[in-house]
Amino acid sequence: MSNNMSGEASDEPYAAGPTAGLEGRDLEDRPEARTILESRDLSVFYGEEQALQSIDMEIPEKRVTAMIGPSGCGKSTYLRCINRMNDLIDVARVEGEMLFNGKDVYDDDVDPVALRRRIGMVFQQPNPFPKSIYDNVAYGLRLQDNTENLDEKVENALKKAALWDEVKDRLDESGLDLSGGQQQRLCIARAIAVDPEVVLMDEPASALDPVATSQIEDLIAEMAEEYTVVIVTHNMQQAARISDKTAVFLTGGELVEFDDTDKVFENPESDRVEDYITGKFG
Ligand SMILES: Nc1ncnc2c1ncn2[C@@H]1O[C@H](COP(=O)(O)OP(=O)(O)OP(=O)(O)O)[C@@H](O)[C@H]1O
Ligand SMILES: [Mg+2]
Repeated sequence: MSNNMSGEASDEPYAAGPTAGLEGRDLEDRPEARTILESRDLSVFYGEEQALQSIDMEIPEKRVTAMIGPSGCGKSTYLRCINRMNDLIDVARVEGEMLFNGKDVYDDDVDPVALRRRIGMVFQQPNPFPKSIYDNVAYGLRLQDNTENLDEKVENALKKAALWDEVKDRLDESGLDLSGGQQQRLCIARAIAVDPEVVLMDEPASALDPVATSQIEDLIAEMAEEYTVVIVTHNMQQAARISDKTAVFLTGGELVEFDDTDKVFENPESDRVEDYITGKFG
């Protein structure tokens, strides 16, 4: 795995520097990305209540895809379909397909635990384990018996999560003693340590202060060099800054628009999306 997320200079045209993402992302010069995730006619019900209405969407590999929309429109529900976290909700029922590299994650022969190793998740509230910083990052690797050169793997993950310099001298201290923003970067390090293909993030910065938020935003832009990132955010400026593609869900669980982020924000097809983006309704 390359280590170009640690802030070293690089000749790569899209190597992300410290302010990557803040100037908006530019798809123009990059080759077309292949589709890594595709939902087809995906509907989700909680008991009688339908939370997502027949969603078709193709999510490109190694890009940042943002999901925006008012509260209750189904953003978290969609995210949880991708790595079958909805399995953990008794009343949830999924219809249709969610293809990951062409294979339906809901097929009988898919092991959800193995799936979640390839599709990691970061939540709104940073949730480090009550363990040392080192053990948090090593956790998934140890579960996989993937402990050869463990120190190096832990260091790499912390570097990619832009946390190494702040914690390298205190790796045996508890993850819970870090600041909120550091805890969230620790959770990102924990998620990427096992080298997943996709990282799902549900409002990863909404519990953080502006400085920590901006660090997370920079990090997400850099992560897309190696991973596919799907992020739910309430913050439209954040979606505009860091994503390549934006999906707009509206009340009732309808996907109303899905396109390049610039297009969605500058010239949306749907009047309802325009109203939502310009704040006419929320
Ligand atoms: N565990 C659950 N049991 C029953 N209904 C649920 C459950 N989780 C979500 N819902 C319902 O499904 C719909 C979509 O919820 P979801 O959490 O996906 O929305 P969201 O877009 O993530 O909202 P928010 O921005 O507030 O996080 C809502 O009507 C919600 O009440
Ligand atoms: Mg949500």
